[in-house]
Amino acid sequence: MSERPTVRVDVAERRTVRVDLAERGYDIVIGERLLETAEDVLAPVVAGRRTVVVTDAVVRDSHLPRLAQALERLDIRWDTVTIPVGEGAKSFRDLEALLERLLDLGIDRSTVLVAFGGGVVGDVAGFAAALFMRGIDLVQIPTTLMSQVDSAVGGKNAINTRHGKNLVGTFHQPRIVLNDVSVLESLPRRELLSGYGEIVKCGLIRGEREFGWLEEHAPALLAFDSGPLIEAVRMGCETKARIVTADERDRGDRALVNLGHTFAHAVETEAGHGALPHGEAVAAGLAAAAALSARLGHCEPSIVHRLRSHLRNAGLPDRIAALASNRHWNSGAILGHMSHDKKTVAGRVHFVLLRGIGAPFVDGSVPPNAVLEVLDNECRRG
Ligand SMILES: NC(=O)c1ccc[n+]([C@@H]2O[C@H](COP(=O)([O-])OP(=O)(O)OC[C@H]3O[C@@H](n4cnc5c(N)ncnc54)[C@H](O)[C@@H]3O)[C@@H](O)[C@H]2O)c1
Ligand SMILES: [Zn+2]
Repeated sequence: MSERPTVRVDVAERRTVRVDLAERGYDIVIGERLLETAEDVLAPVVAGRRTVVVTDAVVRDSHLPRLAQALERLDIRWDTVTIPVGEGAKSFRDLEALLERLLDLGIDRSTVLVAFGGGVVGDVAGFAAALFMRGIDLVQIPTTLMSQVDSAVGGKNAINTRHGKNLVGTFHQPRIVLNDVSVLESLPRRELLSGYGEIVKCGLIRGEREFGWLEEHAPALLAFDSGPLIEAVRMGCETKARIVTADERDRGDRALVNLGHTFAHAVETEAGHGALPHGEAVAAGLAAAAALSARLGHCEPSIVHRLRSHLRNAGLPDRIAALASNRHWNSGAILGHMSHDKKTVAGRVHFVLLRGIGAPFVDGSVPPNAVLEVLDNECRRG
């Protein structure tokens, strides 16, 4: 691919979301073709400091050259470390290999680590930044829609163990997050839609205005119309930023970002981890959470219909049965996985339910038979 001779960056299309955590606060800068001029955004953190970019081979091959040019213009010493592609890299082995590689490079506490990739790179590099010499500065440059609106915001990182996903990790906030929506154009369609599942979740959490806006603009943003895409990423980041600000260390309100996730995690466990894109499971989980809310009389059934039709129109599954459609889903087995979810508190499954669009709440006393009834229906084909 040849480089464009001139770079036109429409500054009006740039948005900033502040994650307001006092001395750990930071900006998320969102825009089109930001990598081309990344030195502007990165300079306050990176200027004059040694930098290591952690990435994977897919992102390195398609997007590193533009970031490299920006780093060259900052005239700093920088290196790249490549970790394996995919969920398997979230392991003790690959974390150790990354830390040893950083030591080989002879970096010190003033070095900045840049996580340049999807959520896997963000989690492994974020964890390494938290551990290296007890913590060095981290910059997130997420390159999937999922990571731009979710994993790069909020400072959580984790790896997997044989006991399950994301069980070992830290909190380590980045110094800045740079979301260039133009890098999303190379994403496989299924990965793009998976990230959109989290944005639908944010719309439901936020309110009628945001959800209605998504209903209207989903076709354009999923076709990479940059204006609506930037706005959707901004709304997703702002939603997570607000929740994280209220509850940085995940002790209470942060649970609201798990809307749909109790169902999604159980379905992912049943399918086998990695068998489904996470956002597809989230989409089906949102529909199930809305159906459970309606079943318990918390919200109008019309909200469930509206959500299902939005998911279908976007190309996402609107119920569990629509996931990996040749599969027979076992509602009892899915219910069984829920009681093992790490969000379970003192043996009670905590569901995020809806009183309406924009009115999520946590309910720790949902009768299991109501959940099973909803699951039976969500798993039924036809
Ligand atoms: N820490 C958190 O708060 C948090 C929140 C949500 C998810 N996560 C984690 O994030 C991970 C999922 O992240 P993900 O969905 O980004 O998956 P991923 O990082 O595995 O990326 C998906 C695939 O897309 C490729 N890719 C990345 N950017 C690309 C681009 N611009 N063009 C083409 N291909 C590209 C990657 O190489 C990979 O093959 C999970 O491990 C999940 O647990 C963490
Ligand atoms: Zn999620």
